[in-house]
Amino acid sequence: MTATDDDRRVDPGSPAVAELPDTEKLPEAVSLETEEGRRLAAQLADEKARHARKLLEVRDLSTQFFTKDGVVHAVDRVSFELDYGETLGLVGESGCGKSVTALSLTRLVPDPPGKITSGEVIFDGVDIMKLSSEEMRLLRGKRIGFIFQDPMTSLNPTLTIGFQIAESARLHLGLSNRAANDRAVELLSKVGIPRARDRMGDYPHQFSGGMRQRVMIAIALACDPMLLLADEPTTALDVTIQAQILELIRSLSDEFGTAVILITHDLGIAAGMCHRVNVMYAGQIVETGVVDDLFENPRMPYAWGLLDSLPRLDEERGSRLRTIEGMPPDLIHVGDDCRFAPRCPYSRDICLEDEPQLTEREGPDHLARCWGTEPGRAWIE
Ligand SMILES: Nc1ncnc2c1ncn2[C@@H]1O[C@H](COP(=O)(O)OP(=O)(O)O)[C@@H](O)[C@H]1O
Ligand code: SF4
Ligand SMILES: [Mg+2]
Repeated sequence: MTATDDDRRVDPGSPAVAELPDTEKLPEAVSLETEEGRRLAAQLADEKARHARKLLEVRDLSTQFFTKDGVVHAVDRVSFELDYGETLGLVGESGCGKSVTALSLTRLVPDPPGKITSGEVIFDGVDIMKLSSEEMRLLRGKRIGFIFQDPMTSLNPTLTIGFQIAESARLHLGLSNRAANDRAVELLSKVGIPRARDRMGDYPHQFSGGMRQRVMIAIALACDPMLLLADEPTTALDVTIQAQILELIRSLSDEFGTAVILITHDLGIAAGMCHRVNVMYAGQIVETGVVDDLFENPRMPYAWGLLDSLPRLDEERGSRLRTIEGMPPDLIHVGDDCRFAPRCPYSRDICLEDEPQLTEREGPDHLARCWGTEPGRAWIE
């Protein structure tokens, strides 16, 4: 039987994983003094040990900001997993904790005022909370690529883009100058920059927004990451360029077997790109499932609301999107209730008294946080 592309992307024992480079020299930055350092060293030396587990396991992750107005519960007991090569969407309205989740996964939360206050993040078998800062930097550089909404904030305006891509390859893959330059040219061509070798000496401002985003993707891929964190990567771009960039991310992720966490407030994008989606609301995951299942049969009213605000093909172009009435709660005053209750048309007393938990719906892959659809209690539908 031949595996389809989709099969390959979610199967941990996939050819894409099996074909990863076998062994590399142990980077000096890994401390063999600590247990986690030794574990990281073992992982770096033995790519094949990866087959048996998830790329990412996040358990009960909480991140708070300690501000003069109070404690902001930006990420609240978030748990999820990611397979090798899988594309997972993180969706929800602005301010619901998507970016802070991504920053927490890589220990890049600005501290102060932020702090990861609880939880575990196991990346490729390594508990990243136990790594030293140096080991963490190494892990980020070698294993995790970032793409952000605005490439200008991450590109250095004073350095040529050729240098910036090659630098990443030099630092993280230990390539010689020449090999790193060749790799930079190869990556630039791969991300669709015409006349790549000629453009190596150009500066970021000499590129259009879409082209800059392609350069960012080339930099993110320069270290051969296992995970790409893409935080609203196309929000600043016009629709045509947006589609091209998303297609590029998808094809590169297929080609290199790279897992992707795609952060977006746009469910349409998540539907087209992702295997699974986590819907976030007020710092929590409120629903998670395989894309088709979740979109066909959402089990939490906020997710219904989000789906309703998707533009529909049968609507006239330019018609206004429906939106969910009301505002998300501020994340300082959170209690033991359903955080969506003030906006929820199905709310009952229990929703204000007790916090619903993320529990199974039709199967173990589809979870929702809602009393109204909780098996054995449901009053919705
Ligand atoms: N540096 C910070 N200081 C205080 N609060 C912050 C900081 N960064 C983010 N937050 C708060 O954390 C919450 C989640 O933010 P964020 O993850 O950026 O949302 P999203 O990416 O979903 O739009 C918001 O309430 C935001 O105001
Ligand atoms: S728990 Fe209650 S208030 Fe919250 S989404 Fe479900 S029905 Fe609405
Ligand atoms: Mg954000």
